[in-house]
Amino acid sequence: MRPYDLIRKKRDGAELTAEELAFLVDGFVRGEVADYQVSAWLMAVYFRGMTDRETAELTLAMARSGRMLDLSGIPGVKVDKHSSGGVGDKTSLVLVPLVASCGVPVPKMSGRGLGHTGGTLDKLESIPGLRTEVDVDAFLDQVRRVGCAIVGQTADLVPADKKLYALRDVTATVDSVPLIASSIMSKKIAGGADAIVLDVKTGSGAFLKDVEGARALARAMVAIGNRLGRQTVALITDMDQPLGHAVGNALEVREAVATLRGEGPGDLTELCLALGAEMLRLGGRVRDEDEGRRLLLERLRDGGGLRKFQEMVRAQGGDPAVAEEPDRLPSAPVTVEVHCPEEGYVQAMDAEAVGRAAMVLGAGRARKDDRIDPSVGLVVLAKTGTRVSRGDVLALVHARTREEAEAAVPGVLQAYRIGATAPRPRPLVYGRVV
Ligand code: URA
Repeated sequence: MRPYDLIRKKRDGAELTAEELAFLVDGFVRGEVADYQVSAWLMAVYFRGMTDRETAELTLAMARSGRMLDLSGIPGVKVDKHSSGGVGDKTSLVLVPLVASCGVPVPKMSGRGLGHTGGTLDKLESIPGLRTEVDVDAFLDQVRRVGCAIVGQTADLVPADKKLYALRDVTATVDSVPLIASSIMSKKIAGGADAIVLDVKTGSGAFLKDVEGARALARAMVAIGNRLGRQTVALITDMDQPLGHAVGNALEVREAVATLRGEGPGDLTELCLALGAEMLRLGGRVRDEDEGRRLLLERLRDGGGLRKFQEMVRAQGGDPAVAEEPDRLPSAPVTVEVHCPEEGYVQAMDAEAVGRAAMVLGAGRARKDDRIDPSVGLVVLAKTGTRVSRGDVLALVHARTREEAEAAVPGVLQAYRIGATAPRPRPLVYGRVV
């Protein structure tokens, strides 16, 4: 086999076989297939696309490039969850312990994404003492004992993805549906869960801004999961404004804890019920969505989800008392109000701009090695559809200094579009792909 022939085959629109894809992926990881040839192949994929079979084979070849976790020693159907990412998305902090409290084990490995706000690991690490860098044996042991864990991906999980992503990043081939789908799913497949629930976001704060793009990605990922023997379901959900109110690491942990107490924002609670019901159904714990929702609501009401959150935090070295006393979490010394300049309705929000404002305050990373400040961020009080008057408080800026807070205000204001008429409500869930 020669890389040249495989590039030409893809360039001409043909389907590569499992052996050919494994040859390219393995050769690339070992340094035997050159970057320039893999770059050319990526560009051919970008223009020609891939069949579902081909995308699944690529995913499997990538997953096999590193360690594949074996979760068979943990009883029950293990269900993983993945979000394509968004502003204020603290769903995993709620969902992982909540679903585990219903008896379905949730082993979650997260990447440390580079984005406008911190990722799930950064949010969790705002809890004093909490560790997310744990070895595989400790991870498996925790899932067995506690029922859930949220940890960082180990260094040997899908090395092919790290190398391929770095090449895609510099060859303008990131936004290709089969390449994104195989990148995300290779990590889920290597993570070893039996079933996977995907939250694919769409809107101004999402990676994919339009619903059709999100649907195409959801379809591609579900097809991969099902072909590789993992039951997979995707929900396409709204990210046209921040989820909940809090954007920033410790602020988001507070909101997640409030949600586990049954006192969370409506959109976040509803999303957790929708995704959680899918997880319980795939986990074989309930027959249908209604039964799943009832069980999840029961665990919110009786505190079972919150107790599971505390168990998970304790198992990872964190201070479980943050669930009773959120003031133990880091908090910023300065809070500044953002006032509404005019009367009307919040017609739309640029969620990414909100995320950028939080990032500039220190809540996210502009570069891979930037340090995150867990205490800073924004609390978005007025969301899309809210009637506002001049002088109303739209948002609160939590910052290290008054200067940094004041500097963030114009960015927050720019994220709001205020007009005379009420906007048409957008759904929270656009569709379900099975
Ligand atoms: N997230 C990933 O893990 N991979 C991609 O290619 C895009 C988003």
